[in-house]
Amino acid sequence: MIEAEWWEYDSADEMADAVAGDIGFIIESAIEARNEALLALPGGNTPLPIFARLAEAKLPWKRVTIVPGDERLVPMDNELSNVRSIARAFLPAGARVIPITADIADYKLAGNSADARLQDLHWPPDLVWLGMGSDGHTASIFNGPDMDDALNAPKARRAVGVMPEPLPAEAPVPRVTLTRSAILSARTILITIKGDEKRALLEQAIEAGHSSKLPIGRVLAEAEQPIDIHWCP
Ligand code: 6PG
Repeated sequence: MIEAEWWEYDSADEMADAVAGDIGFIIESAIEARNEALLALPGGNTPLPIFARLAEAKLPWKRVTIVPGDERLVPMDNELSNVRSIARAFLPAGARVIPITADIADYKLAGNSADARLQDLHWPPDLVWLGMGSDGHTASIFNGPDMDDALNAPKARRAVGVMPEPLPAEAPVPRVTLTRSAILSARTILITIKGDEKRALLEQAIEAGHSSKLPIGRVLAEAEQPIDIHWCP
């Protein structure tokens, strides 16, 4: 049974203030314990106001390494790239940002090169922060021919290439994503979603667990740690 802890806010601003504070605490605790922090951050729009607040916070950013939890297979200067939006927010703050973008058209090869980049990092991450699409995808684990690979990859595999079906309208490109086991290895898993539709969808996915048709339900069903879910209208 998925242990979900819900935090609800009246506005996106209120959620951004609270989530930035929580992540700042995760960073400070990690650095106190291990003198470094490793975060996997999401793409999409919901995180952007939280990125802005977090990057303004007085934190030991030089001890922080950030990777995208998933990436679109586009050049890193492309507006669709997740590492581009993460780097714009956190490089000025002094954090180390590791791209997992591969300019490789073959998404399978991209999975291997992304995996190699992640293998060098001091795993497990202190935080994997996820969003959720209106189709129930999370990170870049989508319904499609590669979903089982992303869900069932052995623990040693941290990233796989994914071809969503159908290709998402907002970014119709192949992707690379953390695998389910890589996501669930995190010390803390945090989800941010907006709107009533996504709240109902996520509640349904959590309720269904292993039998969920939604990728996020299949990911969270194996979680051994509580999941922090932050929601605003
Ligand atoms: C991506 C994201 C993806 C995102 C959801 C929600 O690369 O698209 O990592 O998983 O979190 O699509 O996006 P919004 O927060 O913009 O709704």
